[in-house]
Amino acid sequence: MSLELTAKYDQDWTGDHVGRSLAVVRPRNVEEVAAVVRWCGANNVPAVPQGGNTGLVAAATPSGDGRELIISLELMNSIRSIDPADGVAVVEAGCVLADLKAAVEEKGAFFPLSIGSQGSCQIGGTISTNAGGINVVRYGMARSLVMGLEVVLPDGRIFRDLRGLHKNNTGYDLKQMFIGAEGTLGIVTAAAVKIQPKPSQCETMFLATASIEDTIRLFHRIRQDAGDLISAFELMLGTSIQRVCETEQGIRNPLPQLYPAYAIVEVSATGGPPLRAWLESYLAQHLEEGQLLDGVIAESGEQVANIWNLREGIVESQARLGVYLRTDVSTPISAVADFIAKGTELVGRLVPGAQVHPYGHVGDGNLHFNVLRPLDMTPSDFQPHIHRIEAALFELVDKYDGSISAEHGIGIAKRSAFRARVDSVQRDLMTKLKNVIDPQGLMSPGRIFSKE
Ligand code: LAC
Ligand code: ZN
Repeated sequence: MSLELTAKYDQDWTGDHVGRSLAVVRPRNVEEVAAVVRWCGANNVPAVPQGGNTGLVAAATPSGDGRELIISLELMNSIRSIDPADGVAVVEAGCVLADLKAAVEEKGAFFPLSIGSQGSCQIGGTISTNAGGINVVRYGMARSLVMGLEVVLPDGRIFRDLRGLHKNNTGYDLKQMFIGAEGTLGIVTAAAVKIQPKPSQCETMFLATASIEDTIRLFHRIRQDAGDLISAFELMLGTSIQRVCETEQGIRNPLPQLYPAYAIVEVSATGGPPLRAWLESYLAQHLEEGQLLDGVIAESGEQVANIWNLREGIVESQARLGVYLRTDVSTPISAVADFIAKGTELVGRLVPGAQVHPYGHVGDGNLHFNVLRPLDMTPSDFQPHIHRIEAALFELVDKYDGSISAEHGIGIAKRSAFRARVDSVQRDLMTKLKNVIDPQGLMSPGRIFSKE
């Protein structure tokens, strides 16, 4: 087993969260992971599993006290099997998501999880955070793609169920506990995941509307008319499109002018009648009726990439102004437009001139309602406002019975907001579960739950 101590493992990719680890170990197989975990138990050393370090809530970044051992899964990156006929792939935790997707595609199949960080995030991390992304509207979150898991428990025993059965109702479905547990209940070392036939048709559209309300109406219409064929429906505002085109090289607006709001829509099918001809006449009808102001259907791989770069580029583009408020909230879909209007008003009152960039997976009611500093305010002057704006937006989320973390999780960053809201019965069950499975409290301590 190699032992390393390097800065790379001590901070997340945003650089917002920086800690100091005791050391970093990089086991090569599940037995080595179990041996490290047993050593931690015997020596009272807290352990934190780490994947691609692309999480956004500091769940996998070490604390600052130099006591936590980082267990990086990056060397456990093999794909054990891909079986399109059975619809299952078995993969180790350290495999990069994009590598799994490419290997599955080579076999003519498809693994639908799609997130901006897929070039570096790892399967174990996507499962431990129950990652979401752009295709959730059709395929669900990571949880719905997991058929089985291999997990090293805090006492060093190995939970093994990699059979990859589509149906299995034998007692409690224990693997669910580890999905989205952010490393607090054990270390995911491998997974059996669901794969499907690769869609033979996939059309990507960039559609302009007069307002957020119109974009949501468009979602409901397409949902009604194209049903299960919608594989992504993302909202962006004109101000965000303008910002990305200005700050990110090589990304351009596919339409000749700017509009108030946009939807990036992907429709895909395996077999079936041609989608493109249907979409062309469908969009022409919407243009005529005035629900759409303009739109394009991508005609080449390059155009598809440009449209998705507009969407993914917003993450880099925002970071260029220094510290900013990043949120990951959800409301009922019907409340999204109202939430954005009220949230924008609220931010304008708290910090006049702050730039509001709400965008995201509105087909799931999940918004990244992000706020950038006013151009005449320095990042350090903006910093103290970030928490104040976040707290006010979370209170607004509460009014819609929404979630303060729709897909990124709690980690350390959101734990006080989570604690203030979690129902007492749920909190009691979660705490008991944690204490039963990790009685020494050594597995990713302080994540999700505050140390008490
Ligand atoms: C996104 C990440 C931030 O959707 O969740 O861009
Ligand atoms: Zn997202």
